[in-house]
Amino acid sequence: MSDLSVANNASKAGFDVAAVRRDFPILSQQVNGKPLVYLDNGASAQKPVAVLDAMDRYYREMHSNVHRGAHSLGDRATTAFEGARETVRRFLNAESTRQIIWTRGTTEAINLVANGLAPRLREGDEILVSHMEHHANIVPWQMVAERTGARVVPVQVHPNGELDLDSFNSLLGERTRVLAITHVSNVLGTVNPIAPLIEQAKARGVITVVDGAQAVPHFRPDMQALDCDFYTFSSHKLFGPTGIGVLYGREQLLEEIPPYQGGGEMIERVSFERTTWNTLPYKFEAGTPAIAEAVGLGAAIDYVEGLDRQAMEAAEAALLTRANDLVGTVPGMSVIGTAQNKVPVLSFKIEGLHPSDIGTLLDQQGIAIRTGHHCAMPLMDFYGVPGTARASFAFYNTLEEVDQLFTGLQKIQRLFA
Ligand SMILES: Cc1ncc(COP(=O)(O)O)c(C=O)c1O
Repeated sequence: MSDLSVANNASKAGFDVAAVRRDFPILSQQVNGKPLVYLDNGASAQKPVAVLDAMDRYYREMHSNVHRGAHSLGDRATTAFEGARETVRRFLNAESTRQIIWTRGTTEAINLVANGLAPRLREGDEILVSHMEHHANIVPWQMVAERTGARVVPVQVHPNGELDLDSFNSLLGERTRVLAITHVSNVLGTVNPIAPLIEQAKARGVITVVDGAQAVPHFRPDMQALDCDFYTFSSHKLFGPTGIGVLYGREQLLEEIPPYQGGGEMIERVSFERTTWNTLPYKFEAGTPAIAEAVGLGAAIDYVEGLDRQAMEAAEAALLTRANDLVGTVPGMSVIGTAQNKVPVLSFKIEGLHPSDIGTLLDQQGIAIRTGHHCAMPLMDFYGVPGTARASFAFYNTLEEVDQLFTGLQKIQRLFA
């Protein structure tokens, strides 16, 4: 635990959702005259007091620029900042903090990797992604493909939202250079079997990049067990602040690929004749970093790691089971994404209703969900829909809130369908 951590109501023994909810002040408010039911955690999760206090304390007691070593305050800020990096290393079970790069989020991390790998890509090379990727794991590769003559090739998805492994096996080939795949789909909730995919890709010398944005809020990925080349996530979906995220990378590859941005901090020596790069991880961290945000993310990880993980995962599974059980109570409702292995995310449509109307009408009842294409337009095309409504649950959601969602949907269906 970092010295910025504070006492939480939640404890390690068992899982008391009422106690957990007291750690998230934003949840106990009224929205549109109704108690807030926050079911948009896939877009961004709420923050426990531990995170708010850690950032507040950082600014009140220790803010200064980092890595300057000129005075005591700077030392304190640097210790807090690098302490957070160590917390991330521990969370991911990475071997070294040299492998933990701060970015602005998943999007920036994937752009960093795609640009870093660009010099290795040639005309006709293939970058394998999946049909269920977020745009953040499609567009940076398309931009790099445009520059290099490589091609972005999507692995197909089964109608139930599981990855089509036959498609993967047939597409992973001689020309594949990169496999860039999501660990968990933000639309479908599908948990992809990335360990065997990484193993197969590695056996062919293919570089593996995993988008963990929707995985880390629900379970802890182990870098040494997965053995991927790159893994990335955003703090704000993991109960931490916005504006910061993480890129984990294999050390040798991080040494080899060029920096993403130039400026202060990322250099060893600058002259007009020749500039050399700083050591890892600083080579990829140009400019003053998001220091308070790093501290906040460290506190968020400490908070989540302070919970009884097994009990938390069981509580989340119960939320999904309850939601699935209630689908039949809303006439015309159907779920998109029914994979065997999925996190508590429910994308759905209701016959005769536009997803954005569902979202607006639920909001009037204090229930926050997301509607639209979820930054996954190719997947929407696959299902032949312009968008879906999506309820995405976190460990602080209750079974009563699931019931409220369905009571709300029943009302809307009766009124408008
Ligand atoms: C699977 C997935 N990848 C990437 C992203 C992009 O994350 P960010 O906007 O924090 O960079 C998201 C955000 O919704 C996501 O769900």
